Amino acid sequence: MTFKALLLTCEDDAKPVASLTELTDADLPDGDVIVDVTYSGLNYKDGMCLNGLGRLVRAYPHVAGIDMAGIVRDSNDDRYKAGDEVILTGWRVGEVWWGGFAERASVKADWLLPMPEGFTAKTAMAVGTAGVTAMQAIMALEDAGITPDAGPVLVTGATGGVGSIAVQLLARRGYQVAAVSGKPNADAFLKPLGASEVLPRDEFEPNNRPLESARWAGAIDNVGGDMLSRILAQVKYGGAVAIVGNAGSNDIKTTNVPFMLRGISMLGIDSVMQPNERRQAVWAELAKTLDADQFASVISSISLADLPEYGNKILNGNISGRTVVDLSL
Ligand SMILES: NC(=O)c1ccc[n+]([C@@H]2O[C@H](COP(=O)([O-])OP(=O)(O)OC[C@H]3O[C@@H](n4cnc5c(N)ncnc54)[C@H](OP(=O)(O)O)[C@@H]3O)[C@@H](O)[C@H]2O)c1
Repeated sequence: MTFKALLLTCEDDAKPVASLTELTDADLPDGDVIVDVTYSGLNYKDGMCLNGLGRLVRAYPHVAGIDMAGIVRDSNDDRYKAGDEVILTGWRVGEVWWGGFAERASVKADWLLPMPEGFTAKTAMAVGTAGVTAMQAIMALEDAGITPDAGPVLVTGATGGVGSIAVQLLARRGYQVAAVSGKPNADAFLKPLGASEVLPRDEFEPNNRPLESARWAGAIDNVGGDMLSRILAQVKYGGAVAIVGNAGSNDIKTTNVPFMLRGISMLGIDSVMQPNERRQAVWAELAKTLDADQFASVISSISLADLPEYGNKILNGNISGRTVVDLSL
């Protein structure tokens, strides 16, 4: 029986071409578990894979999609049986292994998790890598001693996937949240999610000052570059910045001064290779913290056929909130 997939082909290092194609199980990679995918999600990295950027995808033809949720169809692993609801985020699936932009996937059992309690395939994919990363970043700040009474926490790239979920989660955990966005109408989107203050991106133009007035107890940075350089100079004594993304740049220009004089820390966040025990702890915190109605307000659904357009949109910073791919559309 055939199934539908968004197949990427590429010749001579040109930009990959995406086409909706019918495949069979014989086309799938050799995993332990076959999953009927019901939902996937759109992350910044999916935009990169769909456009052949960052050398994330090295072999074609390829199926992208770093997240998937679905139902086990067949399993060679004792931990999973036909009918189980499962999710998968990260593990370089969608980059070096065929991912979730297809109605069927064949994956390693070690990469799967049973559907976390409190989530459906759709809401789990709306959380996806973006939400797991946002929760991880908050847990890292809290492990570093940041508490709601320490002062405001800054979130950059705030209308994006990681940013918009981080804003909601921080506010729900009692933090005062300041959000940075380049979008002109960001207030209307971010304040209902719990941001108490929305700052325009241009407040973070480079100024080369090693220290500025101390403003933030902590920060979650999705942007990097000049934005991160400015934030490091503004973090309060003993504060920390969770380093999540590079939507602006990979570069940071800073000095050792805020680290020596204010004892601040940079906390590296990786969602891709973290062990399953940690992932389960992250999903349990997500279930406890997210407000279902508020979260529903940031979710939009698209089909496989919409992905090439949306892959470009996410790279251009033109998406707010979370976009799920509904495989039934
Ligand atoms: N470490 C990890 O494990 C991990 C996991 C997931 C994602 N990430 C990374 O985290 C970042 C955010 O991911 P995402 O899925 O949330 O992407 P996203 O939905 O595209 O959000 C990124 C946001 O950053 C802002 N932005 C975009 N281009 C910018 C620029 N040139 N300068 C300044 N701000 C810019 C935009 O927000 P505003 O318009 O509101 O400013 C945009 O919505 C990406 O770099 C992604 O690769 C890392």
